[in-house]
Amino acid sequence: MTLVAGVDSSTQSCKVVVRDAGTGALVREGRASHPDGTEVDPAAWASALETAIGEAGGLADVAAVAVGGQQHGMVCLDDVGVVVRPALLWNDTRSAQAATDLTAELGGGQAWADAVGLVPVASFTVTKLRWLAEHEPANAARTAAVCLPHDWLTWQLAGTPGIDHLVTDRGDASGTGYWSPFTGEYRPDLLERAFGSTPALPRVLGPAEQAGVVAGGGAVLGPGTGDNAAAALGINAEPGDVVVSIGTSGVVSTVSTTPSADPSGTVAGFADATGNFLPLAVTLNAARVLDATARLLGVDHDELSRLALSAPAGSGGLVLVPYLEGERTPDRPHSTGAVHGLTLTTAEPAYLARAAVEGLLCGLADGLEAIVALGNPVRRVFLVGGGARSEAVRRLAPAVLGVPVLVPPPGEYVADGAARQAAWVLAGGDTPPVWPATSTETYEADPVPHVRARYAEVRDLTADRT
Ligand code: XUL
Repeated sequence: MTLVAGVDSSTQSCKVVVRDAGTGALVREGRASHPDGTEVDPAAWASALETAIGEAGGLADVAAVAVGGQQHGMVCLDDVGVVVRPALLWNDTRSAQAATDLTAELGGGQAWADAVGLVPVASFTVTKLRWLAEHEPANAARTAAVCLPHDWLTWQLAGTPGIDHLVTDRGDASGTGYWSPFTGEYRPDLLERAFGSTPALPRVLGPAEQAGVVAGGGAVLGPGTGDNAAAALGINAEPGDVVVSIGTSGVVSTVSTTPSADPSGTVAGFADATGNFLPLAVTLNAARVLDATARLLGVDHDELSRLALSAPAGSGGLVLVPYLEGERTPDRPHSTGAVHGLTLTTAEPAYLARAAVEGLLCGLADGLEAIVALGNPVRRVFLVGGGARSEAVRRLAPAVLGVPVLVPPPGEYVADGAARQAAWVLAGGDTPPVWPATSTETYEADPVPHVRARYAEVRDLTADRT
């Protein structure tokens, strides 16, 4: 049996799966936690990766490995490859002003969407680089190369062979804001505009191109990719399939054969890990909205779900706008959450629980609507991520999204996608190896347009953080 390994270096933890390259069967797995915070020393990712690999039985008998990782994080290296400062993560909103400035400087959202398929928001690497240039000029001056979390971990596995050997893939490069999904090339002019200089960037590999070998071990390294592209590969999403992931972030994405350019910035026109594209909308507030509401009500997740399902659709007009960490879609980086429609009837735990689940889903429904409006057909919706463990989320999702929802069993789809990429690198060819499709449970419900209409009425009535 030939073994392959896939890594998911996500915001909160690092997961490693070891699978049979031929059948995809799970053989071993491991995990380790990442530190909290939106600014993290990459060394913490490397040590979590080492722990997770150890827990997964090591890589000695593994023929190929690939790394999936949280997108956009800015990892700055000096000329000998030393990390210049802790990485700023995708959910760090300090570069919001830089995003506004960059958008205006190029002439607005249309110009950015046409150039790189996305409009700057605080998540994207390009805005973090502008922030660094403005706020930490000494660190900016020391920065000789910029890469992303998965690029850096792949480079670590390869034994840090010098900054000229950094590599990435189309999927993760497409989230930087200085790579064009239309041409498949970097836009050094935009990097220069943001940062004032052009540090070295990782070479962009093809979907199944070998990235080197693991230092001292010999396993082949795949190019890796961003977590959303890896999840799509792990689920085997095909054109027309939508993946809704409720994790730290809420993500709605679809596989498309053409790149997209949404001047409003609601949909980011990323590339995927197979040579296709991955138009995607992200909310910053997802599973943690459920955590926060459970905490507020003093209940666990099962009870939160039971409460939510016991209240009527629309919670009697009670709406929870879930911008607890600011929001990215819509672009409200400084906003706070809000509760609207409190009455003697709705001031009940069940109503608040329902409003939290519906608010979270309404944000995702707005993203799905924007993806559809760009001309992407919806064939099927897969619901994944920690939030999909909530029965209330599973049962209310088809009603709020207005389409039947397929729920695969809980799994590590990002790590699985990376493992499948590793198997593809070994096997070669134009398409990833076929692994058996995961079983799914189908959830259907009558659509509830009044819930979304009420949410839309109050969505913008939130105050900014003081
Ligand atoms: C995508 C995004 C998030 C991170 C989470 O644009 O910012 O989904 O990739 O890990």
